Order: sequence, then structure tokens, then C-alpha cells
Amino acid sequence: MPLHRAIYVSDAVGGAATSLLVLAEILGASDRNNRRDGLTGVLMRHDDRFLQAIEGRRVDVDRLMDRLRLDPRHENLRLLSDQNVAERLFREWPMTLVEMTPNAARVLNGAGLDQLSPDRAEALLTTAASALPIPA
Ligand SMILES: Cc1cc2nc3c(=O)[nH]c(=O)nc-3n(C[C@H](O)[C@H](O)[C@H](O)COP(=O)(O)O)c2cc1C
Repeated sequence: MPLHRAIYVSDAVGGAATSLLVLAEILGASDRNNRRDGLTGVLMRHDDRFLQAIEGRRVDVDRLMDRLRLDPRHENLRLLSDQNVAERLFREWPMTLVEMTPNAARVLNGAGLDQLSPDRAEALLTTAASALPIPA
């Protein structure tokens, strides 16, 4: 089955930037829907930015991206990477929140965001995910 991975950054709107409840709602829906759709990935939040990787069948990734573009909890969604890939990087997680790393914080804070290459974005997220326990 051909696999696809999209990585994007967006700006959180209102409570999404600070509210644990909003974050829990997002992760709850993500877990439910992504299991249904065979999607996996990770989400990182820093101040008012989201960085997310989503992988699965192209049609499912595209459908989720369409829903994400309409979601008022964030805006200004910029695709960093959108490509066919050989394998999943985040196969253990339908969607999980990863901790900010110092490197990622520097990038997500500053002007560096505009020069964030697909490889670097991927590296930031895989490094953060490597700190997660693998679910049983
Ligand atoms: C930063 C962010 C990340 C999200 N990630 C996902 C996701 O991985 N999967 C998902 O189904 N919805 C995700 N959502 C929510 C979708 O935008 C949308 O609200 C949801 O898919 C609608 O599903 P529902 O009809 O089951 O409520 C995310 C929203 C935000 C703001």
C-alpha cells in the first residue's frame, strides 16, 4: 500500500494555544478518527504553534488535511512536507502529543520556521517521539 506523509505548522487560535481541555478534545477526536482511518502521527505544541506529522494512505491524509484547514482552533496552516514515503515513522501512535525539545522550541519560536526544511521538521518530530514509551 503506498504511504503518504504530510507535515505542517499552524498558529493556534484562542484557547487552543493554552487550554488543556482544547488539547484533550483534539487528541480525543484524533485518536478515534485516526484509528478508523489507519492514520498515525505526532503533534507538538509550542506557545501558539502546532507542528504535526500525519501518515497513512494518501486519500486519508488528504481528507484529514481538508478537515484541518477548516478547523477554527488554528489558522495559517503551512505545509512543510507532503510526499509519498517508504515507511511510517510513527507507526505506534494513531496520534500522540510529543514534548517540546530545546531544538524544536528554537525553531518554532523564531524566524527559523520559514526555513524549516521537510527533513529538519521530520528530524525534530522523530527525536521528540523517540522519548515516548512504546505502547504495549
Ligand atoms: C492542531 C490540530 C490537530 C488535529 N489533528 C487531528 C488528527 O490527527 N485527526 C483528526 O481526526 N482530527 C484532528 N484534528 C481535529 C480536526 O480538525 C477535526 O475537528 C476533526 O477531525 C473532526 O472530527 P469529528 O467529526 O469526529 O469531530 C486536529 C485539530 C487541530 C486544531
